[in-house]
Amino acid sequence: MARTALLNVMVNAVLKAGRGLARDFGEVENLQVSLKGPGDFVSAADRRAEETLIAELRKARPGYSFLAEESGVTEGSDNVHRWIIDPLDGTTNFLHGNPIFAISVGLEREGTMVAGVIYNPILNELYVAERGSGAFLNDRRLRVANRSHLADCVIASGIPQLNRPGQPEYLKELSTVIGQVAGVRCNGSAAMDLAWTASGRFDGYWQRGLSPWDVAGGIVIAREAGVMVSDQAGGENVLESGSILAANETIHRRMIELLDASR
Ligand code: IPD
Ligand code: CA
Ligand code: CA
Ligand code: CA
Repeated sequence: MARTALLNVMVNAVLKAGRGLARDFGEVENLQVSLKGPGDFVSAADRRAEETLIAELRKARPGYSFLAEESGVTEGSDNVHRWIIDPLDGTTNFLHGNPIFAISVGLEREGTMVAGVIYNPILNELYVAERGSGAFLNDRRLRVANRSHLADCVIASGIPQLNRPGQPEYLKELSTVIGQVAGVRCNGSAAMDLAWTASGRFDGYWQRGLSPWDVAGGIVIAREAGVMVSDQAGGENVLESGSILAANETIHRRMIELLDASR
């Protein structure tokens, strides 16, 4: 697959930040860690990866704005393009020596997500997609799973932290979904959940309480693999609502019915 200049810029940035994360993962016990809130860790690895991503992307596309988890909003001179960055999605896994984590970078143009890259430097999985051009894992074209019966499906999810808004509703959803599917998986990285739904390892994914950087890159990758991605009410506004439902068209419809039934 010949990559466009834009995807090359994104890939170079995540590969460089990924080398740093892989080094830090090898010495995780020496990392400086602090808490942003209950159960919400941030480490020197998150910060270093974010600095590398911002420096590389800015060098290649001066003027673009940023929304990044650790440094927030940086307005650029270009009010059309915005990078949405999660330098380390799955920090809790990372700090426990669990290799399910990823860097996620999405590009928004005039309010629409147009490109996404997700990189896991330990599994050596690089997911890329540009709107209209398909989604790829290490150059292999991705396609959503085609199972059509919920009873055969493995569905990924993420549990909102205790006392966060949406937790009681989520627990009702979970108890409804568990009874209808082959399995529910909580892997601890929203970016990897979307990437694995794009690659067919999961038949679907739903979650509440997300931030834009958790899902921005993954939305493009999933859609380009044929995944239907919406908020949990079936609407388009995933980044703002913070809720997501992703699956092939049939399973997406069945999941909306199930989530509705749990309320
Ligand atoms: C978290 C992960 C996790 C999800 C949390 C996110 P972080 O991101 O995506 O899977 O359940 O809601 O905050 O903090 O590790 O980047
Ligand atoms: Ca975090
Ligand atoms: Ca995240
Ligand atoms: Ca993060």
